[in-house]
Amino acid sequence: IEVGDFDLVIFGATGDLARRKILPGLFRRHAAGQFPAASRIIGAARSDMDTEGYRREARDAIAEFGPRDADEAQIASFLDCLAYVAIDVTGERGWSELGALMRPDVVQAFYFSVAPALFGDIAERLARHAIAGPDARIVVEKPFGRDLASARALNATLARHFEERQIYRIDHYLGKETVQNLMAVRFANMLFEPLWNVHYIDHVQITVAETVGVAGRGAYYDQSGAMRDMVQNHLMQLVCLIAMEPPWHFDPDAVRDEKLKVIRALEPVPPGDIVRGQYAAEDGDPGYRDDVENPDSRTESFVALKLRIANWRWQGVPFYLRTGKRLRDRTSEIAVVFREPPHLIFDDHAEQQANQLVIRLQPNEGMNLRVNIKEPGPGGMRLVQVPLDMSFAEALGKEGRDMPDAYERLITDVIRGNQTLFMRGDEVEAAWAWADPIIAAWENASAAPESYDPGTSGPDQALGLMHRDGRRWREIK
Ligand code: BG6
Repeated sequence: IEVGDFDLVIFGATGDLARRKILPGLFRRHAAGQFPAASRIIGAARSDMDTEGYRREARDAIAEFGPRDADEAQIASFLDCLAYVAIDVTGERGWSELGALMRPDVVQAFYFSVAPALFGDIAERLARHAIAGPDARIVVEKPFGRDLASARALNATLARHFEERQIYRIDHYLGKETVQNLMAVRFANMLFEPLWNVHYIDHVQITVAETVGVAGRGAYYDQSGAMRDMVQNHLMQLVCLIAMEPPWHFDPDAVRDEKLKVIRALEPVPPGDIVRGQYAAEDGDPGYRDDVENPDSRTESFVALKLRIANWRWQGVPFYLRTGKRLRDRTSEIAVVFREPPHLIFDDHAEQQANQLVIRLQPNEGMNLRVNIKEPGPGGMRLVQVPLDMSFAEALGKEGRDMPDAYERLITDVIRGNQTLFMRGDEVEAAWAWADPIIAAWENASAAPESYDPGTSGPDQALGLMHRDGRRWREIK
């Protein structure tokens, strides 16, 4: 779908996110012919630089993080859309220049790729200098607050100058193709939805495992930890998409209303149902505390927990979640584990296992449904479990690098004015209301997180969380 003419301003235009994600994402969409010739991208940052200088920076960013096959003509034509304004977001420099550049008759979008503490300053100056028109859109990134109180304060700050319909809160997991696919699988097929409840599902497990540590982002991460960095947002969104009721339409508020109901139905997590971990040093490799340069840190780089959703569909079905850094492999997947059949008619059923629908988010994107069949052979009715496998690579020729990046999709949606894949203010607040007591309990406790060796699947206590319920995590691989 084509988009209309737009002026997109990136505050924080020389920052890491702009270099790694925003500029390369915009380039890909531009190269795909999706942006009209008259669209403009205006970088705004503190550095003294002119448009030529910014174009050079953008060129480097595309070379490093853009597609490998970018051709020169495409790059040149993309760079033509760029402009730059040196701006002081807490002062007066640059604002009238920015105002003079903006066109009133095209879509206006302002990407706040800066620390949340600056959101208020920018919003207030956009209003005071009459730069943002009544339909302008603003885009903000996580962390959206660090608890309920700060998230409320941020929402209130933005609301002073913008309406909710103008605010696009990014959770980049929602831009991932495989995450959007969860809705397609559930709501475009007759196969799964009738079974998608406590009567047929035993439990759900969600794993987002990373091999990277926190090196480089220690200062941010040590103030945050896995709960704030991953669980409150990315994993919470995955839970919502798996657990929500079918929205009446694929429409921003219809979808977000249903997600909000899930978050509101989450039960508080008792301390015994949650394990936090921190990776140790090993064989000369630095541990978490070395990486964040805080020898006493009690921040978690791993969380596993058992979640319960108190509603008709899910009462009694545990959702086990885990995420962590420096784990065995980079794997994100959701496994929906079905119940056993009510009665087993085969004597030799030792090999029979519960059906599972495994949705691979990344890498090796795909889905696999594990079913029991008869193992061929004359010996009798022996069962074996086999996968019905779908990989995006094989079925559609798309995987990893060929998949559009989350940011491409999300920024295009901002310009199109589609908020479906963005978090609404009440959703973010509800997620903090759930996470706050857990974090507060940790902050008041004297115990440190459990230590785990890098390259494993996290602390043993996380395995125990499932074992004591007679269940098992899938292997991280
Ligand atoms: C970010 C977190 O939001 O998501 C990072 O701040 C994390 O700590 C990243 O590494 C994971 O994203 P992805 O897309 O690599 O799964």
